[in-house]
Amino acid sequence: MINRFTPLLSTAVALLFSAFAHAQQLESTRGDIPPARGVVAHNGMVVAQESRAARIGIEILDRGGNAVDAAVAVGFALAVTYPRAGNIGGGGFMVIHLAKEDRDIAIDYRETAPAAATPTMFLDAKGEPDATKSRDSGLAVGVPGTVAGLALAHRKYGSGKLSLADLIAPAIDLATKGITVEDDTADSLPRAQERLARWRSTSGILLKNGGQPLQEGDRLIQFDLADTLRAVAQNGPRGFYEGATAARIADAVVKAGGIMTKDDLKNYQALERPVVRGTYRGYDIVSMPPPSSGGVHLIEMLNILEQDDLYTLGHGEKTFHLMIEAMKRAYADRAVFMGDPDAVKIPVLGLTSKAHAASLRATIGDKATLAADIRPGKPADNEGKNTTHFSVIDRDGNAVSNTYTLNFSYGLGLIADGTGVLLNNELDDFTAKPGASNAFGLVGYTANLPGPNKRPLSSMTPTIVLKDGKPFLITGSPGGSRIITAVLQVIVNVIDFHMPVAEAVSWPRLHQQWQPEGVFVEPGFAPAVLDALAARGHAIVPTRPATAANSIEVLPKGDFSPQAYVGAADTRTRGALAAGF
Ligand code: GLY
Repeated sequence: MINRFTPLLSTAVALLFSAFAHAQQLESTRGDIPPARGVVAHNGMVVAQESRAARIGIEILDRGGNAVDAAVAVGFALAVTYPRAGNIGGGGFMVIHLAKEDRDIAIDYRETAPAAATPTMFLDAKGEPDATKSRDSGLAVGVPGTVAGLALAHRKYGSGKLSLADLIAPAIDLATKGITVEDDTADSLPRAQERLARWRSTSGILLKNGGQPLQEGDRLIQFDLADTLRAVAQNGPRGFYEGATAARIADAVVKAGGIMTKDDLKNYQALERPVVRGTYRGYDIVSMPPPSSGGVHLIEMLNILEQDDLYTLGHGEKTFHLMIEAMKRAYADRAVFMGDPDAVKIPVLGLTSKAHAASLRATIGDKATLAADIRPGKPADNEGKNTTHFSVIDRDGNAVSNTYTLNFSYGLGLIADGTGVLLNNELDDFTAKPGASNAFGLVGYTANLPGPNKRPLSSMTPTIVLKDGKPFLITGSPGGSRIITAVLQVIVNVIDFHMPVAEAVSWPRLHQQWQPEGVFVEPGFAPAVLDALAARGHAIVPTRPATAANSIEVLPKGDFSPQAYVGAADTRTRGALAAGF
C-alpha cells in the first residue's frame, strides 16, 4: 500500500509545495486591476482594444485570411471604432512572424516630418521649446503612415486570398452604418472634449449639441471617413496619398498652422526594416528597431535582468528594485542615442549586447541610483495616454504584433475637413531642443531633433517572443513612455514568474524612465513592498493605470491536449476583447 501510494503522495506534496512556493513568489503584490480572463482557442486569436474590430479580425481568419490579413482589417476597423487611437491619420509599427518561412519582419509606418521641417521648428522667439507648436497646432502633424503600412503588409505578407478592398470593407460598413458609442470611446471623449471642440470639422462628428461629447449609447456615423476608406479600397494607397484626400489633408494642416504639402503625402513611404533581436533565458525576443526605441531598450533591460535569478528573488521588492534600476539606465541611453536611423547612427548592437548589460548591472547596488549619477540632465513632467496595440495569430502560427498611434488621445483633435481623418500630433515625439522633454517627459538630445522627412523617435514596442523558433508570446501596449516597461513586465511575469498570460497582463505595473526621478506605480502594489522600495531611496509616485498590453500566449501541444492560443485582453480600459477562433 505504502509503496503504491508513496510516489502519488510525494507528487501531490511536490505539487502543493510548488503551488505554495509560486504563491510565495507572488504574494508581495496584489492586483487591484480587474483580472483579465484568458480566452482559449485553437485556430486563431485576435486581441484588440475594441471588440467590434477584434471580431472583424476573426471573420477574416474564418474566411481564409492569414494573421497579416486579419491585422490589416483590424487596423482599418479600429480607425472607425476606436477613434482615440485607431487611425489612418497616424502611424505605427508592425512586427510579423511568418511560420512557413521562419522569418521575422518589421514594418515601419511611422509618420514623417514634412520636407520643410527644421531643427528649430518647435522653438519660440526666445529659442525655448513651445509646446503649443509641437502638440496643439498643424506643425505637430506628421505625414500619416498607416495606410501605406497596412497596404504594404497586405501586399507582401497577406495570404493572397483576400484583396485590400476585402479587408477595408468591414470598416467602410461600420463607418457608413454608424456604431454605438461605448466603452473606452465613451470614457475618453469627455476628457478630449476641449481639444476636439477647437475644430469645427471635428465638432460636427465627435461632438453634439453645441460641443458636448457623444455619450454612451449615442450613434457615431462617419460618412466622410467611409468615403476616404472607399478611395483606398478602390485605388490603394494612392486613394489617400494623392488626389482629393491628400489635398484636403494638406489644406487642413496648413490652415492649422502647419507646413505639410501634397508632395509630402505623395512621397510618403512605409519601410521594411530588420527586426531587433535578443535572447532571454532561452527565448528569442523579436521586436521593433529604430525609429522605435522600444525593441532596443526592451532587450537592454531584459539583458540586465537576466543576470539575476528573479524567481528566487521573488516577485517583490528585490526584483522591482532591479527592474527600476534597469529601466533608469535604459531610458538614459534612450535619451542620448536614439533617433531616426536614416538620419543618425545608432549603436543598436552595442545597446542590445550582453556585455553592455553586464557593465550596467555592475553599477546597480542596493540603493536607488539618482538620475543625475547615471547621466546629467533636467527633470521633466509626465502626462498623456494614447496609442493602441493588437496581437494576432492564425492556425498556421503566423503572428502579428501591431502598435499604432495618433500620439495624444484623438491626436491633434483635428479632423481634416471632408475626409473624416483624425490627424496626429506625433511630431511632439521629436526633441524640440537638446535636453528638452516631450509630453511624456522623455528627455532627448541632438539625435532626435526634428528635420526634413525625419521620423520622430517612438517607444512603441510590438514584440513577438519565440520559443524554439515558434511564437510563444505576442505582446505590446499603448502608454507613451510607459510602453517599453509595460512590455518588459508582461514578459518577465510570464517567463520568470510562470504567470498565465491573463495574470501577467493584469498584474499592477511600475515605471521609471530615468527622468523624472519618480517610480510611477499603479494601484495594487502591497504597501510593504512600496515602503521597502522607498527605503532603498526610490521616490514612489502613485499613478493611474495607463497601459493596455493585449497579448497572446501559445501553449504547446501536450500529451493529451492540442496546442492552444490563450488571448488576454487588458482590463485597464473598457471594451478590449480577446476573440478566439
Ligand atoms: N507617440 C508615442 C510613441 O510613439 O511612443
